[in-house]
Amino acid sequence: MLLTLRTQSARLCSGFSGQPRCLFASSAASAEEANKISPPNQAQLQLEINGGTYATDSWTNVTSKILTHLGLNKHLQRDHPLSIIRQRIVNYFYAAYRNQRGNPLFSVYDKLNPVVTVQQNFDNLLIPSDHVSRQKSDCYYINQQHLLRAHTTAHQVELISGGLDNFLVVGEVYRRDEIDSTHYPVFHQADAVRLVTKDKLFERNPGLELFEETWSGSIANPKRILPSSKFMDQTKQPCHTLEAVKLMEHEMKHVLVGLTKDLFGPRIKYRWVDTYFPFTQPSWELEIYFKDNWLEVLGCGIMRHEILQRAGVHQSIGYAFGLGLERLAMILFDIPDIRLFWSNDTGFLSQFSENDLQNLTKYKPISHYPQCTNDLSFWLPTDVEVNEGFSPNDFYDLVRSVAGDVVEQISLVDKFKHPKTGKSSVCFRIVYRHMERTMTQAEVNDIHKHIADASVEHFNVEIR
Ligand code: DAH
Repeated sequence: MLLTLRTQSARLCSGFSGQPRCLFASSAASAEEANKISPPNQAQLQLEINGGTYATDSWTNVTSKILTHLGLNKHLQRDHPLSIIRQRIVNYFYAAYRNQRGNPLFSVYDKLNPVVTVQQNFDNLLIPSDHVSRQKSDCYYINQQHLLRAHTTAHQVELISGGLDNFLVVGEVYRRDEIDSTHYPVFHQADAVRLVTKDKLFERNPGLELFEETWSGSIANPKRILPSSKFMDQTKQPCHTLEAVKLMEHEMKHVLVGLTKDLFGPRIKYRWVDTYFPFTQPSWELEIYFKDNWLEVLGCGIMRHEILQRAGVHQSIGYAFGLGLERLAMILFDIPDIRLFWSNDTGFLSQFSENDLQNLTKYKPISHYPQCTNDLSFWLPTDVEVNEGFSPNDFYDLVRSVAGDVVEQISLVDKFKHPKTGKSSVCFRIVYRHMERTMTQAEVNDIHKHIADASVEHFNVEIR
């Protein structure tokens, strides 16, 4: 793991409070209130996180438990449902946008450090200084200047400043929240930005402009930063022409509906809902109709031009969106509890495979009771080998008929041929688990013995 924690920081955390999920779409309220519940004054401690050293202060509320999530990278773990969803989204964007040579236009950043500055997470995105989402009760602060990113949008400005114009960011985000079947303080997001210049957007209408003539003074003087608009007009920002905004909106909505249909099937019912984000104007949420409810799947909009200006981009218009991976995965795989995404239980993990990204298997509930693993090794009869006279599938069927549902998984973990006798040996690992109670080792051993006896009888094998 990348992370080390020099000090015992469990006591650093202040009290928890449940918060609404979509912090950035909510309207502003004073952050002062919640900040009153700051922890008692601490002696200064040093936190070492992902190679950086941070001095704690009265803002520090990150806990050692939360810090254990850094570097787990569930979105990159082979065959993990979050990794499967990530690949579906990335592949969709690779296919949707290609350059003249046929290469993908979007680049993907999925290993960025989740430790960000207040500037990255909030200021760069024009999130007002009194916005609720900055509250200590909502974020994991490392200190007054640093926090664990509360959204992947936090990386927008650094990537645009670095010259990128089409990119996706995928990673885990941290928000203080209650824990239940749909809330967990660490979850995963994908964010995207697409910037286009006038020439590209108006390829077929070269007479049109991105920016209003009355506003164009700032193009001649690109250093000028516009003051934030005090109220949000859902039609457009003052600097943009309506044509530019409408074309971008059309392209963005077309692509995002395409993504939604790619994930949920062409018949999915969806609707666009106007909303507010500090970093986009106009802004929308896309909702899908699922199990008799409208469910929000993503937030998006036309990027505030001030953000682009600050990142050194003056001649483009952009769209951006962000979505949560867990929510999509829970729907697509029928996963009933968000905590399962953190499970290392092979009964959970072995159900998913990225070999066929287009065919997602539905999750079958596993028991809460502990697993019990026993290996069974035997010599095959002379001249019999795996798949030549002995089929593992036959063995699996035998196990299931002897032991029934208490067998959760069976796998062939080893095979070898004895150099002298020429006999083949196989080893199977059998994982036992009861749906309603904890099994005792003695009980498991007894079933295991029955399987061994039945194997001898059916396959004429010799138990080792
Ligand atoms: N960051 C927002 C959230 O976490 C989601 C979002 C909305 C991202 C609009 C964007 C965007 O990039 O343009 O709720």
